[in-house]
Formats: sequence, structure tokens, C-alpha cells
Amino acid sequence: MKPEEFARRRDQLMRMMGKGGIAILPAAPVRKRSRDVEYRFRQDSDFYYLTGFAEPNAVAVLAPGRENGEFVLFCRERDSEKELWDGSRSGPDGAIESFGADDAFPVDDIDDILPGMIESCSRVYYTMGMYTDFDSQIAEWINSLRSRGARGVHTPQEFVALDHLLHDMRLYKSRAEVTAMRRAARVAVGAHERAMRMVRPGLFEYEVEAEYRHEFRRNDAWVSYSPIVGSGRNACTLHYVDNNCELKAGDLVLIDAGCELDYYASDITRTLPVSGRFSTEQRAVYEIVLEAQLAAIDKVRKGNHWNDPHDAAVRVITRGLKKLGLLEGTLNRLIRDAAYQPYFMHRTGHWLGMDVHDVGDYKVGEQWRLLESGMVMTVEPGIYLPATSKVPARFRNIGVRIEDDVLVTGKGPDVLSKGLAKDPDRVEALMAA
Ligand code: GLY
Ligand code: MN
Ligand code: MN
Repeated sequence: MKPEEFARRRDQLMRMMGKGGIAILPAAPVRKRSRDVEYRFRQDSDFYYLTGFAEPNAVAVLAPGRENGEFVLFCRERDSEKELWDGSRSGPDGAIESFGADDAFPVDDIDDILPGMIESCSRVYYTMGMYTDFDSQIAEWINSLRSRGARGVHTPQEFVALDHLLHDMRLYKSRAEVTAMRRAARVAVGAHERAMRMVRPGLFEYEVEAEYRHEFRRNDAWVSYSPIVGSGRNACTLHYVDNNCELKAGDLVLIDAGCELDYYASDITRTLPVSGRFSTEQRAVYEIVLEAQLAAIDKVRKGNHWNDPHDAAVRVITRGLKKLGLLEGTLNRLIRDAAYQPYFMHRTGHWLGMDVHDVGDYKVGEQWRLLESGMVMTVEPGIYLPATSKVPARFRNIGVRIEDDVLVTGKGPDVLSKGLAKDPDRVEALMAA
């Protein structure tokens, strides 16, 4: 992402805030995995969206109209001893030179500088509840101003939810963001194709997972969530991540795996027959899910509302479950009673962007949000038939989900993950290749 993109976002946010506002965003904290081992650092999405700055222990401040500079970055100072261990730091000078900050200070000096900046503002834009330690710090700074009120020190009158503005901005992807998301989708498509070629009986689920991780890293990407590789009955466990079972001939394997590239996520699911050919029952279920997915994708159109794709998927799946003999009754009544829910218990999709389950409201007031150009969502209907007494024996342990990433455009749905086989004949052909 080019520096101008981050500058454009800051300008847009500052225009909405107006003079007298101050936005404060902390970097993500470093988290411990176990004892001396830390998780790999990943910057907070909101912070990164506005700064492009990927270091921990930093605070970004935007103060429209501030005379000494509107974009202020507090960050770690250069320190040759520490940099020897943990890698280079930008330092305040680097924050100005490379990240477009108008002004920058060592983060250790923040207590002496930030309260003074807050004092001269009337509205504080801040996302409460994300990082509780930082919430307390904000409260301390405000209280320190209040306690000096008798001496004429001014305290802002208003606190505004920053995420409300920022998350609405993030919902509409710019041209540069769509390009980044296409790349993230393309890498994940490559990984799924690699898996399709290698899946066979006798492999373990973790070996399939390894193919994805390999393909992601060789493209400078990371997993955007823990890959799900669920074979047989595991395909019916929605958040299965143990990935430690052997793939058995005759079973399906459901693989939900996407990557994060340059801070943008892809999220793709395919379901494959382990031995390379779908059984009659598996194919019957698979074709219903595919029809539901295509019907839902067709509803990803400007002017439709958020729930239209889900409604379309529910209709196809309910009709299909009725045809398979898993549901009995009239179609409309089954839909009204949500009779499909034991077998299709999740939503048809979610917003996708810097976060896999991306930010942005799904409703405006009481109404579902209307789809507009630049929004990106997943479309991922599924049918899960676990081994329970309600499911006829021949359908047991069939779990199918098909998931693609779709951009809303003025010209209809644009599937970012297009090209990846999902027609059952094409899947079988690719597996045989
Ligand atoms: N991989 C997470 C999801 O599909 O929502
Ligand atoms: Mn997924
Ligand atoms: Mn998803």
C-alpha cells in the first residue's frame, strides 16, 4: 500500500472529525504465547489502516487543524542494543520521514505531551473497550486534566466512538484495497489447487494443512485464521482446527483456509472427496450447497440488502433438504420455521477485509444494510449432516461448505476467488490431474 493511501484515509477521517476533535489510537499489544515466547506481532487493523506503521508500542494521534501538525506518532526510540535483538525501529525521525507523521515523539514521553494536546480539544475520538490497559491510561490523562480544572485547565466535553466512523470507512474498499484483496485471494486459490492435487486416502489432515502454510509463506503471506481441515465427521464441526486425523477413502474433507497478504485477508472453503470421486449421496448434498452458493452470489448486487444472499441460500438449501428427505412440509413453512437450522446453522457470509470477520455494521437502524460498490463479503453456505438418529445412515458424516470472496460492483458480483474449481466434475478432474 502506498503512503498516499494512508494519507488519504487520515484526511478523510479528519474531515469527518472536524476542527476541535482529536483521535487517539494505540498500536496492538505484544502478546505472550508461553513464558519467554511471544506471538508474532500483528498490528491492530485500525491503527495500521491509518498509519501503515507495523511496530508495537506506539500511539497515533490525529488532530485536525493542529498548528504543529495534524498527524502525530508516538513510537519507540532507536536503541542499538534492543535493535540487535529484536530488529530495527523507525524511531520518531523515521516516523516523520517514512510514515508521513507531521510530528513524532518517543512513546515514553507520552504522559508529558498527550494530555496537553487533549486539553486543547473539545471532542476525543476513541474506541473504548478494545485494549483495557490503554482505556485506563486514557482515563488517567482525562482525570489529570479534570483535577486541574480549578486552575483553568480545560477538559474535552465529548467522547465519540471512533470505531463508528472508521469502521464505516473500512467497509468501502478503495481501488488499492481491492487490488490487495485480489492478491490475497489469488494466493489462497493457488494453495487450494495445490491441496486438490495432493489429497488422497492415508494422508493426515495436518499434512494437508502444511500445503497451505507452505504455499502462503512462499508468497509472503500468513494464514488469516487457523486452517480447518476436517475429514469425515470432522467436516461437521464448524470450528474444527485439531487437523490430526487420517483421511479415509470414501469420506469428504472440508478445507477452510485463507491467507493474509499485506494486511488483507482471503477466506475460502472447498469440500473434496478424499478418494477423488464423490459418492451419490455426497454429490447430492454437494450440488445443493453449490446451487445455494451460486444463488447467493447472484444476490451480491448493489441495491440488494445484506440479507438477500442469505435468504437465497436458505431457500435452495431448504428445498434440497426436503428433496433428500431430511425435512418434511411445505417449503415456505419450513423456511418460516427455520427448519433447516439443524443442518445449516451459520450465516451465509460476513464482511471481509483487513480482518477476516471484517468491521462494518450489518444493519442501519432496524433495516439490513444495502449493498454498495466496494463492499466485500464471503458467500459460504453449507450443509452439515452429523451422525445423529435424525439423519439417515447413508447421509451421516457428510459436511459440505463452499466459500468464495465477493466484491460488490456496479456491474454485479465480482468473485475475487474466481477460477478455483467448485463444480463437482471440475473438482474431480483436478484431483485426478
Ligand atoms: N474461516 C472463517 C469463516 O469462514 O468465517
Ligand atoms: Mn472460511
Ligand atoms: Mn468466512
